[in-house]
Amino acid sequence: MNMDTHIQPIFGETPSCFAERVGFSYSSCSIQKEKKDKGQFFTPHGIAKFMGSIATPTQSTTIRILDPGCGSLVLSCALIESIATTNNCLREVILDVYDTDTCLTPLINKVANYLKEWLEYRNITLHTSLYNDDFVISNHHYLSSQDLFDSNRVRYDYIISNPPYFKLAKDDYRTQSCIDIVDGQTNIYALFMAICSRMLKDTGEMIFITPRSFASGRYFQSFRNFLFCNVSLDFVHLFSTRKDTFAKDDVLQELIISKFTTQNSDKVVVSYSNGVNDIEESSRKEYSKLEIVDTGSDDKILFIPTTDDGVNVLRLFRSWNGCMGDYGFKISTGPVVAFRTQEHIVDQHDSNTVPLYWMHNVVKMLTDHPVVRKNKGQFICITQDTKQVLLPNKNYIFLRRMSSKDDDSRLIAAPYFGNMSKDKYVGVENKLNYIYRVNGHLRRDETIGLAALLNSKLFDEYFRLFNGSINVSATELRIMPFPPIDDIRKIGNKIILNNNYSIDYINSLVERHFNIQL
Ligand SMILES: C[S@@+](CC[C@H](N)C(=O)[O-])C[C@H]1O[C@@H](n2cnc3c(N)ncnc32)[C@H](O)[C@@H]1O
Repeated sequence: MNMDTHIQPIFGETPSCFAERVGFSYSSCSIQKEKKDKGQFFTPHGIAKFMGSIATPTQSTTIRILDPGCGSLVLSCALIESIATTNNCLREVILDVYDTDTCLTPLINKVANYLKEWLEYRNITLHTSLYNDDFVISNHHYLSSQDLFDSNRVRYDYIISNPPYFKLAKDDYRTQSCIDIVDGQTNIYALFMAICSRMLKDTGEMIFITPRSFASGRYFQSFRNFLFCNVSLDFVHLFSTRKDTFAKDDVLQELIISKFTTQNSDKVVVSYSNGVNDIEESSRKEYSKLEIVDTGSDDKILFIPTTDDGVNVLRLFRSWNGCMGDYGFKISTGPVVAFRTQEHIVDQHDSNTVPLYWMHNVVKMLTDHPVVRKNKGQFICITQDTKQVLLPNKNYIFLRRMSSKDDDSRLIAAPYFGNMSKDKYVGVENKLNYIYRVNGHLRRDETIGLAALLNSKLFDEYFRLFNGSINVSATELRIMPFPPIDDIRKIGNKIILNNNYSIDYINSLVERHFNIQL
C-alpha cells in the first residue's frame, strides 16, 4: 500500500491527535472494499477524546489497558491522556493491543513511541505489546466458565475499543468458538464485547463504540444475556444522526458508546448528541437501571430514552401486561417470495389470479391496490404451487418490514378487509408482515384499532427507544406490549364512527386515550 510512513508528530501535538492523523492518512490510501472487509473505520479524535473522558479516574500507580482492534491507537492514546491528567500517582501503563492488519504495524509503533515519550515527560513508563493475531481466536477461551477463576489469566483495568463490524458466517471458526452466545447470524463486534466482558479486573471497566443493533432483536439475545450477566451498563451515548459520526468512511449505521463495569450499580447515565461536533455539549441524564434494561426478562432489551417523553412512553408501555399473542393475534412474514414465484406474478386480474400486496401498496392506514410498478406485478396466479403461499381472504393488518431513511415513522401499517375483493385468496409479498387472528377473524374495530396504534406517534416513539435500524422484525412486534384489547377496540370504534383515518386525528385520539402528550 502506498501510504505515508514518514508522517511525524507536530511539536506540542497530543498523541491522540497524532494517532488520528496517522489513521486518516492510512485510511485515505485504502479502498472502501478493503476497509469493509477488515471492518476498518478509524475513530475521529472528538469521539476518541469523549470515550477517554468517560473512564472513571483511578489513583493506581500501575494500570493495564487493552485495545482490541486498535487501528492507529487513537483510543488508547485518548484514554491514557485522560487518565494521566487526572491521576498524579500514575507511574506505569501496560498496554496490550491487537490488530490483524500487519500493514499498520510500523504506524502503530510510531504512535506508541510518541505516546511513550509523551508519558516519560510526565514520569510515567509505557510498555506496549502489539499482537497481530485475531483477537477472537486468541481469546475466546475467556468465555468458558473455567477461565473465570483462573488467576493466571491477564485481566485489565480498562478496555477501550472500536472493534471491527461485519457479519460472520455460521461456519466461521470465530462463530463456532463462541457458539453459546450466538443466535444465528452474528457480528464480530459482539464477540469482541463478550470476550472483553470476561477480561476485566474486579474493578475494571470497558468502553466500546459499536452499532446499536445488539440492543434488541433475536440475533443478539444470547449475547445480551451473557453481557448483562457479566458486566453492568453504567453509561450509554447515542448519536441522533448517523451521518457525521464516521462521515469520512461512509458508515451509516446507528452507533452507540457504552461503558460497562464489573461493579453493579443501579443507575445508568444516558448521554445524547447530534453527532461528533456537539459531543462535548451532549446532554446527560441519570436513570434507574431497571428502566433502561429489562433485566428481569429473557430478552434483556436495551432502551435508550433521550427525552422525558421517551421515559413517559416507556412507563406507559411497561404498564401494559399483554402482547399480541395474549389477545389471539399473530404476526407473520408475507409468504410470497417474488423471485421464487416470478413466473406466476402478473399484471392482469382474471378468474385465475388474486391481488398481490407489496410494500409499496401499504401506506399509513391505507392499502393502495393496484399500483403499477415495473417488475412488481399486482396479481398472482392460483396454481398448485402458489396455493401454499396464498392467504385466505380475510381481515389483516399489513405492516412494512422496513422503512426508508425519508420516512418520518418506522412503523407503516394499513388495515386490509376481506370484503375489499371477491377472491378466495390474497397474496402478501415477503417484505410485508401481516397480523391476523389465529383460527378466526379480526373484528373491524380491532383491525382499525391495531393499525391506528401501529401508525401512531406513540408506538413510533416506543419502537425508536430500542431499535435504531430501519428494519421492523415480526419477533420484535411479537414481544412488544399492547394495551388491553378493550382499548384497541375503543380506539378502532372511534375512528370508524368519526370516519377520520388521518394520522393527525389518530395521534390526538391515542394521546387523549392514554393521557400522554408527545
Ligand atoms: C473499526 S476499526 C477501529 C480502529 C481503531 N480502534 C479506531 O478506533 O480507530 C477495527 C480494527 O480492527 C482490526 N481487526 C479486524 N478484525 C480483527 C480481528 N479479528 N482481530 C483483531 N483486530 C481486527 C481492523 O484491522 C481495524 O484496524
